[in-house]
Amino acid sequence: MRPLIAGNWKMHGTLAEATALARGVAAGPAAGADLLVCPPFPHLAAVSEALRGSHVALGAQDCHAAAKGAHTGDVSAPMLKDVGARFVILGHSERRADHGESDAVVKAKAEAALAEGLVPVVCVGESEAQRLAGEAEAVVAGQLAGSLPAGFAAAGGVVAYEPVWAIGTGRTPTEADIAAMHARIRAELERSFGEAGAALRILYGGSVKPGNAQAILALPHVDGALVGGASLKAEDFLGIAGAV
Ligand code: 13P
Repeated sequence: MRPLIAGNWKMHGTLAEATALARGVAAGPAAGADLLVCPPFPHLAAVSEALRGSHVALGAQDCHAAAKGAHTGDVSAPMLKDVGARFVILGHSERRADHGESDAVVKAKAEAALAEGLVPVVCVGESEAQRLAGEAEAVVAGQLAGSLPAGFAAAGGVVAYEPVWAIGTGRTPTEADIAAMHARIRAELERSFGEAGAALRILYGGSVKPGNAQAILALPHVDGALVGGASLKAEDFLGIAGAV
């Protein structure tokens, strides 16, 4: 399947920096991968404009489970759709940790995204303590069971495996460990969704850089990458995209 290289810009950059980064990414070659950038909320409209007519898709980093209402500080899926987003990252470990998002909350948000025709990118991943305890696969399987709504596969939902201890640390699991986890995720998706689960993209995230992207992206059931730090420089992000 065609890989997806997604940039999660997290809480970085001014408006000017965001639009320049978007233009830089869009100016790159349409490599053998689909490209997606996910700016912070205040920059979505400008980045949407900067990407207009390009091959680079727009996504957001979160949405509320409700379509509208008295939810100060939150943003709804219809608002994201309206501003031009096609994807939304949900259940990132930073949101699970900083905002106490449970699997049930992530699932409700994913349902809201699906209702708007947005593609959810649902993040799962174990902590270092869980991996050391030999629980990594069970933890991820549990997160998948709790976070993915029924319509996920029909909408072409994306799963991102991001071991918490590999995010922003420069550390990555071994290639064997990434391959084993992605195979387990594939098996869980097929168990939940049947044949449709075989066609869903499973991204790896956590310290992906131009230097390690080729080896990671070549692993079985690794259908792309969710990139944090290295997505903040167009050259690095395009270097990763060029490694597929
Ligand atoms: P880094 O690429 O900075 O490790 O971040 C990964 C991530 O959290 C992407 O969502």
